[in-house]
This record gives sequence, C-alpha cells and structure tokens, in this order.
Amino acid sequence: MRRLCFLVVLALTLTGCPAEEPLFPEGFLWGTASSGWQVEGDEDVLDDGIEVRSNWTVWAERGCVLEGQTNPRGSGFRTMYADDFALAAGLGNNAYRLGIEWARVEPEDDAWNQAEIDYYVDVVRSAREAGLEPMVTWYHWVIPTWVQNPTGGADEIDHVGQGAGPDSFFVAEFEEFVARVAPEIGPYVDLYSIMNEPFSVITAGYLNGSCGDGAFPPGGILNLSGARHTFTNLAFAHAAACHALRDGDVADADGDGVGALCGHAPSNNVVRPLDPWDEADIAGARVIDWISSHATMAALIDGNVDLDFDEEFTTTVAENDMLPIDEGHYPELVGTLDWHGINYYGPIMVDGIPGSPIGGLPLLSVEDYDPDLPHSSLGYAIDVEGFGESLDAMAAYGLPIYVTENGIGDEDDSDRPMFVVEHIEQVQLALERGIDMRGYFHWSLTDNFEWSHGTHQRFGLYEVDFDSPDLTRTRRSSADMYQQVIEEGGVTDAVRDAWVLERYPSDQRP
Ligand code: IFM
Repeated sequence: MRRLCFLVVLALTLTGCPAEEPLFPEGFLWGTASSGWQVEGDEDVLDDGIEVRSNWTVWAERGCVLEGQTNPRGSGFRTMYADDFALAAGLGNNAYRLGIEWARVEPEDDAWNQAEIDYYVDVVRSAREAGLEPMVTWYHWVIPTWVQNPTGGADEIDHVGQGAGPDSFFVAEFEEFVARVAPEIGPYVDLYSIMNEPFSVITAGYLNGSCGDGAFPPGGILNLSGARHTFTNLAFAHAAACHALRDGDVADADGDGVGALCGHAPSNNVVRPLDPWDEADIAGARVIDWISSHATMAALIDGNVDLDFDEEFTTTVAENDMLPIDEGHYPELVGTLDWHGINYYGPIMVDGIPGSPIGGLPLLSVEDYDPDLPHSSLGYAIDVEGFGESLDAMAAYGLPIYVTENGIGDEDDSDRPMFVVEHIEQVQLALERGIDMRGYFHWSLTDNFEWSHGTHQRFGLYEVDFDSPDLTRTRRSSADMYQQVIEEGGVTDAVRDAWVLERYPSDQRP
C-alpha cells in the first residue's frame, strides 16, 4: 500500500499534477494583539517614590471614561503574562503583539526606571520561550504626563499636538525612549509596529475629542492645528524611532539575519461615501481615506509630507500658518517602513458637508455604520469584502503585510466566530491573489480596558471577570474556532461548516 502511494505521488509529480498547496505559507504568524495600558492598567504606579502617570490615567480620573471607570489593573497582564502566553500557545499561536508603556519606563523626563525596563525584557523573553514571536508597539496612544497633560489646567502642555515636526520636543523625547529600551529588548524582538493608528488619535483626540463619547485625550474639538501637528510629529517620530531601532537593536532574535524590522499599525478601515451618488460624500470619503491610509505611506516610503491633506506636497507655512513646517520632501523619512500593518474593523461611512472646508480639511460627519450592512451585537457594521479591498489597496505599496489587528466587540460571542472566519478567509484570498501576507493578529487574546468605553466592550477570545480578585479568564467558543483555523492551516470547508454555515443559516445572519 505504501509503495502504491509512493508511485501515485511520483506519477503526479512527473506528470506535473499540482500537489495541494498549503493555504497559508510556512512561517505565517498567527497571533493576538494587545497594548500596554489596556492589559496592564495603572497598578504598581509607585516606584521609588516616583508616581507613574499617563495622559490616559488623567483622562480616566477626569471622568472621561464610560460610567467614570478608571483602569487600575487592565486585564491583569502584569502578573499573568506567562499564563496568557500559555493560553495563546495553546491556541497554536506563534506570535503575540504587545506594547511598551513609556510612562512606566520614563516616568519623568530623563528619570529611567530600570525595574520597568527589566519587566519588559522578561515579558518579551517569556513570549519567545512560549514559542511566540513578539511584535512590539512603542506608541499606542499612552504617553507620560510630562509629554501630554490633558488636565485642562493652566499648566497644560501637549507635546504631541504642537511643535515643529522633525525638531519637536515629542520627536526628540520619543526617539530617546526607543533608543534607551531597544538594546535591552532587542535580543528577543525583531518586529516593531512602531505607531498604532495615528488616525484614531487625530480624530478622537483633536477633532471630536470632548470628554466622554469615546473620545481620547487631550480632548480637542475641531483643533485642526493640533491634528496637523500630531500627524507630523507621529510621522517624524516613527522615522526617528526606526533609525534608533536599526542602530540599537542589531541582535537577530529569529535567525533571519535582521535585528529590527520597522513597521506600523494604522487603521486601514475601508472608507465609503454614505451616499455613493453624493458628490460631497465621495469627496469627503477620499479625504478620510487619504488621511487614514495613504498620507502616512507617502511620508514613510517616499519622504513626502502632506499636512493639509490635499494629496499634494507643496503648501508652505507662509501660505497656511496652521502648518507646523513646510510641506515637501524630507529625506530622513524615506524607507522607514520594512513592512506594513493593517488594523481592520469595518467600514467608515463618510457624510460630506458641501462647501465647508476649514483650512483645507472639509468638515465631515463620519459614521461608523451603514444600515444596509450586517451589524455586530454592539451595532458596528461588518464589511468583510471591505477588508479584501483594503488589503488590495495597501498591497499596491509593495511591502509585506501583517494584519496587526482585527476583531469585534461581542460580549456573548455570538458574532465573533463568523466574523473572524470570514475575515481570515479574506487574508487567504489575498494570498491567492499573490499579496505578500505574513501574519494575522486577532484583537485580542483577553478582554481588556477598551479606552473610553472601559470594560464595556469585550474583544477577547477569553472573557475576563473584571469583578473577580484574580481577573479570572474563561474561554469563549471563539478560542476553539481560532485554534481550529490554525490547526487546519486556514479556513477549510470544515471550518466554514462548523463556525459559519451551521451557526448562521443564510436567513439568520447578523
Ligand atoms: O482596543 C482598540 C485598540 O487599542 C486599537 N484598535 C482598535 C481596538 C478595538 O477598538
């Protein structure tokens, strides 16, 4: 029998019959993603008498989180990271995305906290020991209060939303932070998703940022100048951090000959006009798509900076005094992306308001739902094909792509299995179209603190009981689903049958 099989295989090989291709390439990273503050919280804030406080600590204390919640413990990752890594490894994962909190490492300007640096070294070492390739994010919106203080008091400073791009305080200090920590974690880390979702900070922190309603610090409302400064500072800070990583992390952790690979994790949600026939909606969607997905690519690949978001690089400060620097070409930005990350959750629907440009940025009402699309139990639109469109749009830049986040807030886990299976299937289809997909990180392994929504939005494959003293984790069925997808090497018929067709007959889909 054995001999017969051998002969069949030999015959197929010789006659050129294709052997069955694996759905996902060898070395593809299957992981989950998290951020520092969301899973670590503010606990252990006192160290050597220095209080460790961030813009988000203050934002929560001001009552800007739903029901006045604060975030003392996150999901308990600080004491349970080894257990969490064991859960992730048990799903068949081979990667984990996490954040390093600047406010812990440098609670005051130039006051380095070695105990916290050691803690992060232990985290990334433990991840690797558990068989998980760590991907590290340096900016996931949380910064020390000496960099941004959202109290609204007379002494308020905001070094993200002000300054002059390459020479700003923010860029210099951020580079110092990365340069200080990179050589320490470098022996365990090669993959860096330097900045997370600049677009979210620009919109929720500077355009619709009033306290409450899901907004971010510093709470700016239509602060267009702050939005532009933030865009610039984050782009230049990315580049400075990338140079610091290439210089400071020369240790090759995974044996591929490279010590540090610079990437980022922007929101690449598909952007659609609310009314596909309305000119203002179409024009508005184009602006939002440019800001959220393409302006940063123009800066970090070609070095071209567009600050008034008109897809050109020629406006000067003299022409528009809201700009922090002249637009144009900045060589230090060129080539600071080795790979591209995509955070995808669903569509952004844009309701353009005709004739209301403010300094080049039209006033737009951005909706996150479309009545014609299926919705999650929390009311968010699900747009699976939009994910495929986003992958195609970003693949045009020719960089390897990781899905750095994809997930759904779904406390009862009723929609998550279908959502994840269908989104992973889009990654599979993208591979078939020849796109260089390198990994998929589900957001998130456990429930965690969802920013201004606090513990009210649940994204975890594992549920966390935030009222229990030990923040007990309970496995959701979605964890079984993700494990099966990985075990079967992708979305097979068996996966689709078990997690989509049997659970959601076509007339009962959300
Ligand atoms: O929790 C967030 C994450 O921090 C950034 N991307 C979106 C997630 C879900 O809202």
